[in-house]
Amino acid sequence: MSGTNVTAHPSQRIGSPDRPVGAHSIAAPPAVSYWMAAAFVVSSALAAIVLAVAGAGGAGTALALRVTARWCFLLFLPAYAGGALARLCGPRFAVLARQGRAFGLAFAAALTVHVGLVLWLMTVAADQRAPMLLFWAGVACTYALALLSLPRLRGWLGPRVWRIACEGAMQYIALVFAVDFIVEPLRAHGADEYPLTYLPFVVMLVGGALLRLAAQIWRRPGTAARAWAE
Ligand code: HEM
Repeated sequence: MSGTNVTAHPSQRIGSPDRPVGAHSIAAPPAVSYWMAAAFVVSSALAAIVLAVAGAGGAGTALALRVTARWCFLLFLPAYAGGALARLCGPRFAVLARQGRAFGLAFAAALTVHVGLVLWLMTVAADQRAPMLLFWAGVACTYALALLSLPRLRGWLGPRVWRIACEGAMQYIALVFAVDFIVEPLRAHGADEYPLTYLPFVVMLVGGALLRLAAQIWRRPGTAARAWAE
């Protein structure tokens, strides 16, 4: 991997001048498909285990939603912050940056199970969060990002609009996670009783957001990396 593009966001490099569109689409799809299939299978297995143990009623399904959401988050985080980490900390983390697109598409595949559980919850517990537009918009952003990873669509939108759309969708999904990991537990339990089990996820999410911010403000000297949404 060349020193000039290690620190650029991986999806930014798709179709960039130093990596022609066709090159990515020839090499990547099989590997990315495996990632997506594996993420979906793990998500389904987690959901099945929780439903088998805790029951397929409202409580069991809510638990399965919480478990699959955490698995989704572990896939989303490297897609969200991997490029920034590589840009700030150098080639040690280049593998995360290189696989950013695969992590993003794996996240979209895993989220499908979460959405399936939501639909199931709506049938077994009609009073649940079905009308929450904020969350459905997060789902729309996820699948929009999956579409945006198609080189042809990037070419059609142009690099500037494409970058802004990717940044907006990524940040919106991060916001949905922040609502679930920070706002909702605070609302339900208050600051004094905030469940500590959420803390690792909050640290990872806030850390990822700060890394992205830092990577946009500070560019490593000696690299040709461009800020994500410049
Ligand atoms: C990008 C889209 C989404 C993300 C990132 C996301 C994220 C999350 C997270 C992090 C949790 C765990 C919350 C906790 O542990 O307290 C969760 C649970 C849940 N989500 Fe989603 N979600 C998304 C889409 C949706 C949609 C569209 C709905 C339905 C409107 C939904 C309904 C739920 C429900 C009912 C729970 C269980 C809450 C509970 O009882 O504790 N989610 N989601």
